[in-house]
Amino acid sequence: MNLKKHHPQTFRFVPENSKPVLSEKVASLLAAEWDRFTKNTKKSEAESARSFNSLPLGVTSSFQHWDPYPISITSAKGAWMTDVDGRELLDLSMGFGAMLVGHLNPVVVEEIQESLKTGMLFVTPSPISTDAAERICKRFAIDQVRFTNSGTESTMYAVRVARAATGKLGIVKIEGGYHGSYDPFVVSSKPSLDKVGNPDKPNAVIDSNLVPGDIYVVPFNNADALERMFKKNGKKIACFIVEPVLENLAIVLPDEGYLERVRELCDQYGIVLIFDEVKTGLTAGARGAAQRLGVQPDLLTLAKSIGGGLTLAAFGGKKKYMDFITNGKMAHFGTFNGNPLAMAGVRAVDKVCTTEALETAEAFNQQALDRISEIIKEYELPAHTVGFGVKGCITWSTTPVRNYRDYKATNFEIAELSWLWSLNRGIITPPGLDEQWLISLAHGQREIDVLVEDFRELAMALRS
Ligand SMILES: Cc1ncc(COP(=O)(O)O)c(C=O)c1O
Repeated sequence: MNLKKHHPQTFRFVPENSKPVLSEKVASLLAAEWDRFTKNTKKSEAESARSFNSLPLGVTSSFQHWDPYPISITSAKGAWMTDVDGRELLDLSMGFGAMLVGHLNPVVVEEIQESLKTGMLFVTPSPISTDAAERICKRFAIDQVRFTNSGTESTMYAVRVARAATGKLGIVKIEGGYHGSYDPFVVSSKPSLDKVGNPDKPNAVIDSNLVPGDIYVVPFNNADALERMFKKNGKKIACFIVEPVLENLAIVLPDEGYLERVRELCDQYGIVLIFDEVKTGLTAGARGAAQRLGVQPDLLTLAKSIGGGLTLAAFGGKKKYMDFITNGKMAHFGTFNGNPLAMAGVRAVDKVCTTEALETAEAFNQQALDRISEIIKEYELPAHTVGFGVKGCITWSTTPVRNYRDYKATNFEIAELSWLWSLNRGIITPPGLDEQWLISLAHGQREIDVLVEDFRELAMALRS
């Protein structure tokens, strides 16, 4: 068992004692919960059946689907949503982090209304896009930025900048890491274990319909494996793309010193370091994960939390790399890039996401993590808690998860039960078991109490 120390700016609580939960118990609770789900969500069921006719899987992004059907939402305000069955749901997904400032945040609404008075799309330079760029550069300590419309576009363009700058094509990514749907990033995104090979030297698992190019895969939290990869293939590798804290396998924290070593190795081998902060971003704190963790990448990708819920993403970084856009070696296009509404979103978020506001949300998150950790201890559950910034999760394993293989060894049955249990009691966490809760600026004591007390009831049911 490897209990390496995690980065001091992050949180993890692993209880000393735990007892297993019988799988028959989990199975019987799950069966009862699915029964309850289908009884209470008749209108969502009907809505899903209708939408299957016009939308594959009945959804606009495959992430939104689950079997037998997902909940259909009609409105959202603050930290709460209403579904088609008229149920009030506490939102702990918050648009995968895009709603960090809360649904219909009044400052965002006001900035958008103001912006609508002057137009919706100019496709020309505009003071509002320069204003947004200046705000982003200042906050995230980068020289230059370009706006896009999705995280996928941002990570794709960051890689293209790195390729233009180095004249090399290879990309290194983390096993199990997700960076959007550009072909190279789908490689080994959530590979099945029968294909992954040696944990220190994972196979690049490529779906038959992908054209990923030259792609290499390494385990997270293993600087030696990265060094071996760079030594062998460094002459072909343009960049290493990594989330500083993995937030698509629940939350996987960097070991103390890992990111610093990554930085050194990239410098040593002339490889561009890209931090994908699409998920961390402002949820990591007022200046993002890189500054919080004290390691600066060459390029940074942002999305979700920076736009207040508007369709917005960005990539940026050191001028010496962004200069490859200026000198025409890497062209970056997009009709909707930097559209005034999205830029108004940046302005609003920049006003609202003060250090104090984010620290308050983080304190609520810490309270939830501490209270849930106490419940895990009290009921001797085979679980532990992990947190970073305003995000937290319960991982159903008695040892820390440091990489994809550890994550795959966690108990997915209890994780599914925990998600469904909450959903049936009016708490919506993201579909899929790879996510984490988010305490937005709109969550307060009432919402934390709902989250914690719901978990206590689940703990009691598991031990009943
Ligand atoms: C780390 C990371 N990078 C990139 C993306 C892609 O972003 P988008 O869904 O906006 O294309 C995601 C999406 O969840 C992500 O989590």
